Amino acid sequence: MSAIEKTILVTGGAGFIGNHVVRRLVRNYPQYKVVNLDALTYAGNLENVADVADAGNYSFVKADITDLEAIRSVFAVYSPDVVIHLAAESHVDRSIEDPLLFVKTNLLGTATMLQVAKEAWQADFSGKLFYHVSTDEVYGSLGTEGFFVEDTPYDPRSPYSASKAGSDHLVRAWGHTFGLPVVLSNCSNNYGPYQFPEKLLPLFINNIRHLKPLPVYGKGINVRDWLYVEDHARAIDDILHKGSVGETYNIGGHNEYRNIDLIHLLCKLMDKKLDRREGTSANLITYVTDRAGHDMRYAIDATKLKEELGWTPSLKFEEGLDKTIDWYLDNEDWLEGVTSGAYQAYYDKMYGGN
Ligand code: NAD
Ligand code: DAU
Repeated sequence: MSAIEKTILVTGGAGFIGNHVVRRLVRNYPQYKVVNLDALTYAGNLENVADVADAGNYSFVKADITDLEAIRSVFAVYSPDVVIHLAAESHVDRSIEDPLLFVKTNLLGTATMLQVAKEAWQADFSGKLFYHVSTDEVYGSLGTEGFFVEDTPYDPRSPYSASKAGSDHLVRAWGHTFGLPVVLSNCSNNYGPYQFPEKLLPLFINNIRHLKPLPVYGKGINVRDWLYVEDHARAIDDILHKGSVGETYNIGGHNEYRNIDLIHLLCKLMDKKLDRREGTSANLITYVTDRAGHDMRYAIDATKLKEELGWTPSLKFEEGLDKTIDWYLDNEDWLEGVTSGAYQAYYDKMYGGN
């Protein structure tokens, strides 16, 4: 094994995006020690990182980012040089049900990580980096025209996006006031393996499998910009290695879909894969009450990332969607595991009889 050059602490590495970031770093950089810190909430699952759990350059530590003393001890034990901060409450619908949890995790949790990093690194900030992973939702909602760029004014509209916007401000404040070396990225909607089936695509794939109704919010005309999760992990890798301290980078797929068009495409593909009569899945579409405050459209302009760091998405959406459906169909045990227990209570509360 190569000598360890630096230690990277990834928060939220047992969640959806985090597991892809952890896997990429562990496999591609044997010279880095990767410490995955996660509280293992409903969204965190060690099965997501089981394939790297035995790697010599990987460790897992269960800790809560809002617990100052616990985070101080993690820094004392592992002395990280870099933090990639992904841990967060991430689901908009849950932020409507329980906004204070989002304020606690996303604001207090981020401030705690920043403060401990500052305490640990302030004698010499050289070679240190706090990388904050954020969302395009901080910019608010677009009409039919235009794109989010890095200096689009913040206009968050849900408790989730407001808590993420606040966490971005905290990161910049620690950078500006204390000189903490920070970098931020704001990404569009991710899809792919290991996403918890509360988000649109895995929820609908799972429901189609079980011939359950597909709850489309409102008229289904909201637009999202979809990016395959491994492309996001590669963008994070590029920004980590080639990005400039103090900068923000937008990451997006240039891949806008109205929800209802995406759902029809998914239904068509799933009918084929499950060998069902065409139209079987589409018949499950059920229009339900709209999400409160539902943002109409997100769309990222990722020109800066392309021009400065050479990053572009690698997969066409149809290809990524096909791989994603295959992954969920091939990993039914994973789906069964995460949808047992508390999931059913969540589902009934959110979707009633549907
Ligand atoms: P996720 O909900 O799948 O995973 C979040 C992880 O954080 C889980 O493993 C959970 O256990 C952990 N966690 C939650 N609270 C914690 C706490 N108090 N202490 C320690 N760990 C805690 O989320 P995701 O979709 O992987 O998103 C990861 C990050 O990327 C988030 O910051 C999110 O805002 C951002 N983001 C997500 C998307 C997307 O489409 N999913 C897009 C852009 C940005
Ligand atoms: O844009 C980035 C964001 O994308 C991330 O910051 C969030 O963490 C992530 O959850 C995601 O937010 P969205 O709210 O866009 O994702 P979600 O999968 O919840 O919903 C996608 C669209 O589908 C949205 O317009 C709402 C709609 N929807 C969602 C669900 C769960 C439905 O119509 N029915 C549903 O049951």
